[in-house]
Amino acid sequence: MTNKLALLIILLITGTLQANASMPADLYREPFRPQYHFTPLQQWMNDPNGMVYYQGEYHLFYQYYPHGNTWGPMHWGHAVSRDLVHWEHLPIALFPDRHGMIFSGSAVVDWQNTSGFGSDGEPPLVAIYTYHDSLGKNLGRTDFQSQAIAYSSDRGRSWTKYADNPVLENQGDADFRDPKVFWYAPTSRWIMALAVRNRVSFYSSPNLKDWTFESDFGEQWGSHAGVWECPDLFALPITGEAQSKYVLVTSVLPGGPNGGSATQYFVGEFDGKQFTLDEDLQSTLQVIPGKNRALWLDFGTDNYAGVTWSGLPGEPARRVFIGWMSNWLYATEVPTERWRSAMTLPRALSLHRTALGLRLHASPVGELEALRTASRSLEDMRVEQALDLSAELGGKPGQMEIEITMDTRDSEAVRLRLSNSDDERLDFTIDRNRRVYTLDRTAAGRSGFSESFATVQAAPIAGSLDELSLRLFLDQSSVEIFINEGETVMTALVFPNSPYSQVTLTSDGPVNIRRASIHELKSIWFPDAQQVVGNSDR
Ligand code: FRU
Repeated sequence: MTNKLALLIILLITGTLQANASMPADLYREPFRPQYHFTPLQQWMNDPNGMVYYQGEYHLFYQYYPHGNTWGPMHWGHAVSRDLVHWEHLPIALFPDRHGMIFSGSAVVDWQNTSGFGSDGEPPLVAIYTYHDSLGKNLGRTDFQSQAIAYSSDRGRSWTKYADNPVLENQGDADFRDPKVFWYAPTSRWIMALAVRNRVSFYSSPNLKDWTFESDFGEQWGSHAGVWECPDLFALPITGEAQSKYVLVTSVLPGGPNGGSATQYFVGEFDGKQFTLDEDLQSTLQVIPGKNRALWLDFGTDNYAGVTWSGLPGEPARRVFIGWMSNWLYATEVPTERWRSAMTLPRALSLHRTALGLRLHASPVGELEALRTASRSLEDMRVEQALDLSAELGGKPGQMEIEITMDTRDSEAVRLRLSNSDDERLDFTIDRNRRVYTLDRTAAGRSGFSESFATVQAAPIAGSLDELSLRLFLDQSSVEIFINEGETVMTALVFPNSPYSQVTLTSDGPVNIRRASIHELKSIWFPDAQQVVGNSDR
């Protein structure tokens, strides 16, 4: 092991990452390293876990393998943020033990100390996670996944596993994992949504230790092209109405609209025991053999296993979602070495009554505006065929937010291109004829690491095309596109050999730009740096 690596591991185990003179000089400056998305210091990360808000801190745990840059025996890595933008690395929270690896799960603040883990009047934080016993799996058993709990009385800094784990034994289904727990006040019970192969099973508990099966949802609804994972259930108000609905989110692998992993959702009612799909959605989502029918939370290839924060303040509280920004098709092969995988930007979810029915929208949280440094805008410009937006508005190579509101009704196709001096380009196209948005990364940069990577992704156009608003976040090796305030979202990885510096808009007819802005975004790791050294040198 090199000295540098040893030092990194010591830092990881013993505490917070602090800027330190002896740290590798290129840490967080490596090629493709996101500058304002969460990534682990080093090694492999997948799903976000245990997202809970307590005493001013947003906790983010994550599936973590500290000894390699591909998937391995899972731990829970840990970071906290006070603003959802800047992250502080903390020591690993949960290590594998004799019951197995620590798979995905959630965390809650047990305000009423129902678990009895609290002391001195302080509510405990309780994590609910899956044990994955690979030995049992290798022996051909089917009961190798079970649910367990751990608690913390020091704001998540240290964790004690419950002595009587597991708290929910396997019922014989090999896929039995990823518990997401919330407090359901009308029955004074904790509710667990659990992914069980092709459905979500609901369990209830008075104390987080004793669980009773309540019901199953999903076998006849939604996408079943793969196994269901990482569910989440929460109430959301319908925007502009007094009424609320329950939203059930579940990831599916494979079966995504553009291949591989993706996340679907359902809207309905929950009565403390059972989730019932809204009648309006039943014809859209009923399983028809040979078809893959679902409502997708994100149409891009790279947003998986996402869930929402528990315990956010406010009345009603925001529902903030974060996903793993990768895809199991190629996650272990992407061309990064010291670390693998980033999280998506945090997104606020909202429910809207649209012409198509009730739909979930996702928009970047407002806190992200703090990243903007230089911003330039233009207004009321008619574009005949092409506009070099970067020539007009500048922008920081590899690291910018682009906002455009435009009237596209006189064009069949409008294209926003990000490109670099190596003639690599990422094309986002509004294709009016086919009524789709496409995101073409076939010539966007490196792709040879996986046959599945160089694809053209598509999303159906959901709303009106006349006035269209776009918000695009570029961060070295990812783009997140929010169309019409998050009505449609596309998240995708890209690996350009040099950062994209050019932004051009082209069309086959006139386009009226109402307003276009480019915001340069700063690094959360080097907030004062002018230029991210190393990232321009791939
Ligand atoms: C989703 C998932 C979960 C599981 C975890 C293991 O990406 O497969 O179902 O708990 O990853 O790392």
